[in-house]
Amino acid sequence: MVSIALPKGRLGEKVYALLNSAGYGCRDIEEKNRQLVFTSDGGKAAYFWVKPADVGVYVELGAADLGIVGKDILDETEPDVYELLDTGLGKCRMCVCSKKDYVEGDGKIKVATKFPKISRNYYESRGKDIDVIVLNGSIELAPLLGLSDVIVDIVETGRTLRENDLKVYAEIGGISSRLVANKSSYNFKYKEIEEIRNSLEEALK
Ligand code: PRP
Repeated sequence: MVSIALPKGRLGEKVYALLNSAGYGCRDIEEKNRQLVFTSDGGKAAYFWVKPADVGVYVELGAADLGIVGKDILDETEPDVYELLDTGLGKCRMCVCSKKDYVEGDGKIKVATKFPKISRNYYESRGKDIDVIVLNGSIELAPLLGLSDVIVDIVETGRTLRENDLKVYAEIGGISSRLVANKSSYNFKYKEIEEIRNSLEEALK
């Protein structure tokens, strides 16, 4: 049996639908209760619901053989795992966003974000000095309240920006969710893991 860490929430539902269409359905999971551990109908997979930001931790430490996790979280936390497949699910963009009249100056830039590493890497690559303010949500408030000059955040539909009079100032990169594997599980359960990877790839076509 292969254990799979699934990201709770919106993305998790899409990920489960993909696993279901790939032949790894689980009637119990569809009951929408508060249970966190499930076995797929054929007994080939065990599923755990975990916080999206924690998927890499479960997989790196071997508590789960596989996981499905956003590229944003992989870039931010850099877990030591193999990336096996781009599912294309949860597509969005990592962007620098600001008030509409913002223009970047020469001085230090104040950046509010849930993604300090991604922010530092991006500005470092441009030779810019920044102060990072780490927030856990409602990041868009920061430039509105003068807490920061810009934010580095995920833009999906653009609705949050529009409704708060903000704009995309620069795009850092595209994001989608990836199938990742624990390194030793990938060796020891190679056949089972490759079977799942191939079934997912087929289901995506
Ligand atoms: C994310 C992100 C943006 C929003 C973008 O927030 O941080 O705020 O979604 O989506 P949109 O472009 O479709 O409006 P999330 O919903 O995860 O809530 P958060 O404020 O707790 O981060």
